[in-house]
Amino acid sequence: MNSNSSNAIQRSICVCVTGGGGCYKMAGVVSALAQQGDNVTVILTGNASRFIGESTFYALSGNPVITSVFDDDSAPFGAHINVARTCQLLLVAPATANFIAKASQGISDCIASTTYLAFGGPIVVAPSMNDEMWNKPTTQRNIQRISDDGAIVIGPSTGWLSCRSDGVGRLEEHDAIMAAIDSHYPN
Ligand SMILES: Cc1cc2nc3c(=O)[nH]c(=O)nc-3n(C[C@H](O)[C@H](O)[C@H](O)COP(=O)(O)O)c2cc1C
Repeated sequence: MNSNSSNAIQRSICVCVTGGGGCYKMAGVVSALAQQGDNVTVILTGNASRFIGESTFYALSGNPVITSVFDDDSAPFGAHINVARTCQLLLVAPATANFIAKASQGISDCIASTTYLAFGGPIVVAPSMNDEMWNKPTTQRNIQRISDDGAIVIGPSTGWLSCRSDGVGRLEEHDAIMAAIDSHYPN
């Protein structure tokens, strides 16, 4: 249950954060969703937690952050099943090249990839990475594959990257991410 008592809960959204330089931007997205009354569950990969702390998302969402399919309160199904059954939209942002590769193959070896596989509702994926990584044929094949399979892919855009150069691979901006959520999960 979301601890935000000032607004009625409108939507149940899972925000899955994987380990890229754009992780910090997701604090703003999670805060904005929570402030408008959405019940937000945040998933953090182990590598994402090297970019941004679990406590930040716990405070902003008001909900415990999930970091493993074996989280303590996930019994008897596992955290991925709990999320799949309670959330109506899954947002993966930033989505790393690693995550996209795993999602395209059905690999489920972490909380992010396992939840992606278990989730039956709309999935919005916002890739973010170095431009060489993005332009690599492998990544392009993988992103095309998840798109063909039904994932809604937004971005990446072109601009300043955390590898300190300009190129394609920048995480979509806050407003574009919020708009994508709204168009696939109307209030
Ligand atoms: C400073 C730094 C920034 C990184 N940024 C990105 C990124 O934006 N996108 C990406 O795909 N990988 C990036 N990586 C590499 C990922 O962290 C790495 O592939 C990792 O295995 C991803 O793990 P995850 O997908 O389980 O979260 C970055 C690594 C470092 C050290």
